[in-house]
Amino acid sequence: MSSFLSAAIVAQLLQVAVPALAATTVTVSATASHAIPSTLWGMMFEDISHSGDGGLYAELIQNRAFQQVAPDTAAALDPWVPLGDSQISVVADSVPLSSALPNSLALTVPAASATEIGFANPGYFGIGLVKGTAYSASLNYRVAAGAISKQASLTISLLDQNNKTLAAFTTPLRASGKWTEVTASLVPSHTPPSNNNSFAVTVTNARGAESQVNFALLSLFPPTFKGRANGMRPDIAETLAANKPAFWRFPGGNNLEGQTVATRWQWNNTVGPLKDRPGRVGDWGYVNTDGLGLLEYLHWCEDLDMEPYMAVWDGYTLGGTNITGAALDPYIAQAIDQINFVIGDPATSAPAALRASLGHPEPFTLHYVEIGNEDFFDDETVANRWNTIVTNLSATFPQLTFMATSLSSGPVLTPTPKVYDVHVYSSPTYFATNSFLYDSVERNGTHYFEGEYAAISTNDSNLFGTPAEGRLLFPTVASAVGEAAFMTGFERNADIVFSASYAPLLGSVNDSQWTPNLVGFDASNVYKSTSYYVQNLFANNKGDEYLPSTLPSNSSTATLLWSVTRSTANKEVIIKISNNAATTEEMKFVLPFKDVSSTGSATVLTGPATASNTPDAPDAIVPVTSRIKTGTTFEYTAPAVSFSVLVVSAH
Ligand SMILES: *[C@@H]1O[C@H](CO)[C@@H](O)[C@H](O)[C@H]1NC(C)=O
Ligand SMILES: *[C@@H]1O[C@H](CO)[C@@H](O)[C@H](O)[C@H]1NC(C)=O
Ligand SMILES: *[C@@H]1O[C@H](CO)[C@@H](O)[C@H](O)[C@H]1NC(C)=O
Ligand SMILES: *[C@@H]1O[C@H](CO)[C@@H](O)[C@H](O)[C@H]1NC(C)=O
Ligand SMILES: *[C@@H]1O[C@H](CO)[C@@H](O)[C@H](O)[C@H]1NC(C)=O
Ligand SMILES: *[C@@H]1O[C@H](CO)[C@@H](O)[C@H](O)[C@H]1NC(C)=O
Ligand SMILES: *[C@@H]1O[C@H](CO)[C@@H](O)[C@H](O)[C@H]1NC(C)=O
Ligand SMILES: *[C@@H]1O[C@H](CO)[C@@H](O)[C@H](O)[C@H]1NC(C)=O
Ligand SMILES: *[C@@H]1O[C@H](CO)[C@@H](O)[C@H](O)[C@H]1NC(C)=O
Repeated sequence: MSSFLSAAIVAQLLQVAVPALAATTVTVSATASHAIPSTLWGMMFEDISHSGDGGLYAELIQNRAFQQVAPDTAAALDPWVPLGDSQISVVADSVPLSSALPNSLALTVPAASATEIGFANPGYFGIGLVKGTAYSASLNYRVAAGAISKQASLTISLLDQNNKTLAAFTTPLRASGKWTEVTASLVPSHTPPSNNNSFAVTVTNARGAESQVNFALLSLFPPTFKGRANGMRPDIAETLAANKPAFWRFPGGNNLEGQTVATRWQWNNTVGPLKDRPGRVGDWGYVNTDGLGLLEYLHWCEDLDMEPYMAVWDGYTLGGTNITGAALDPYIAQAIDQINFVIGDPATSAPAALRASLGHPEPFTLHYVEIGNEDFFDDETVANRWNTIVTNLSATFPQLTFMATSLSSGPVLTPTPKVYDVHVYSSPTYFATNSFLYDSVERNGTHYFEGEYAAISTNDSNLFGTPAEGRLLFPTVASAVGEAAFMTGFERNADIVFSASYAPLLGSVNDSQWTPNLVGFDASNVYKSTSYYVQNLFANNKGDEYLPSTLPSNSSTATLLWSVTRSTANKEVIIKISNNAATTEEMKFVLPFKDVSSTGSATVLTGPATASNTPDAPDAIVPVTSRIKTGTTFEYTAPAVSFSVLVVSAH
């Protein structure tokens, strides 16, 4: 029993008022110090852990177009498998579907084969299928050798985990050496018991001679978010939309950079018909289809009413190559084209005319362009690259703001950056004790975008170590509450911190290169983490003005952090409290308003410090809302290891 409780009991016995000795008193100011920018909370995205291909991008077939693989290797087929004893391989097609897609899957069709010959694809770690849903299948084929009989047929089907047919479409197979496209709508007859389903293609050739049929660009889409062609997976999209993101940082992240100059992300390889997109060797261990390309990102931004925070490649690769001075010219030209694709005038710019031809003549919204990614790994050449690129881009696009990715304490950059993108991966304790980070930053016109942050490990001396050493697999209650403490600091410093985004945003629970992630998923489920709920609560309770209040303690042992904002439209005061201690905290709030409602709401995320939402227990930790007593002064008990949002009508 704590000494506070003993004192309270003694006081009760003596029938006197209990002095709020141990309570932390927070006096709120009636006068706002600064606005909460509408851009404060948003999302950082790059294709890592299948967040794009196999994740948000709704395509269900993995390795759909044999992009960037070495033909005639077993690896090139992955994850395609032959059905029965069919013979398949990936070949460099002598008559490719397009110059961007040189490879095809070759199926050997034996003479007079009575049984179905073919191959299957298990998707990205399964294919989630639902009864009655229409899946859009498509493929291209040509007869590359031999003589297929006139009676030959081709079937596209969806199979369950026992290879039982859930839906099928059969069409005559044309004995042509030219490419034929087949499209089909497949509607499963029932919902299969697992995600271990597959997409299969078979042919019959009962009367023909031995032949070879080549297949290219095989695709399967579920219905997409807002019905966009080539669009997003609805359950993941809706999960992200619920966090009311104001911006979308893309396409990286490291995945912008490339290991080499040749494998950098290039906007022009990601637009237009899918058959014209070559894909690229991504920076996180798998080929990117680039089906989720620049225009898809921009449509997505419009669909969620987000601003794109778009990066351009800036002469530095993950492999350590750096390009400086005049040698940057072609890359500056490509960056100019990329920006013009987004905002240029179709009458004067070819990339803008391309955008118009793809159905979007109006320019997209764009205010911020990020120069590279994590240039703080290259203090040697960053000043030269920044100067060369930004001098040019500022002259070409005076209306845009360019964001630097080196450290503001690093090399002096000219022109002086208006914005730095800051990244921090650390421990829950770090975040709880560093919410004052921006309080002492000079107000000199430079603004900050906290473009990546997350509590990733409990081991301060080995943040990037193994799970056994403290690396988190999933966000925990403690890590989310620590991030919440840090985020109260963003609100207090929102006069210079205009945007912040957790990273990484998404990760497949079946194949990830990084943990923890804000939102996990498999082929048919989405897993919302504790950190997700913290982001959700901040964004949905943003307010538009910051009200100064008694400052929390700024110390290396601080555990109780808070911030107060107000929604002028709703006449509400919003109090956010992060309690990182293993004990409850008594708090007393003093609100300087005439009209304060006698009750308010408290939404609380709490639980055992090490608890996580996982695929086995996806809803272990969810926020709970209840009514609380409020008034011009009121008391609130913050649970141990918790994040609370109190909303009080007050004006
Ligand atoms: C389904 O077909 C695939 C491909 O031929 C095979 O590897 C797998 O073992 C089959 N599964 C069952 C349950 O028969
Ligand atoms: C993917 O992960 C989920 C959740 O752990 C699991 O149920 C499923 O079996 C996994 N799928 C594959 C193909 O490994
Ligand atoms: C699905 O496939 C995965 C990977 O092969 C396997 O671990 C899992 O047990 C399978 N699930 C079912 C329900 O068959
Ligand atoms: C994209 O632009 C680069 C550089 O200008 C060029 O090398 C590449 O061929 C282009 N890609 C496509 C698909 O046109
Ligand atoms: C910017 O660089 C491009 C490509 O090198 C060049 O064509 C253009 O003239 C430059 N513009 C300015 C304003 O320096
Ligand atoms: C920049 O490139 C040069 C060689 O072109 C290399 O010596 C140097 O180490 C590189 N710098 C960085 C920071 O990678
Ligand atoms: C403001 O201060 C930071 C940190 O010292 C510095 O990096 C930045 O260039 C300064 N901004 C201006 C506009 O002077
Ligand atoms: C917060 O504490 C840190 C570490 O003691 C100190 O460097 C910083 O100046 C303090 N910030 C404020 C605003 O007091
Ligand atoms: C933290 O990491 C260090 C360095 O790898 C390791 O020696 C130590 O055991 C780890 N601590 C914990 C608590 O896992």
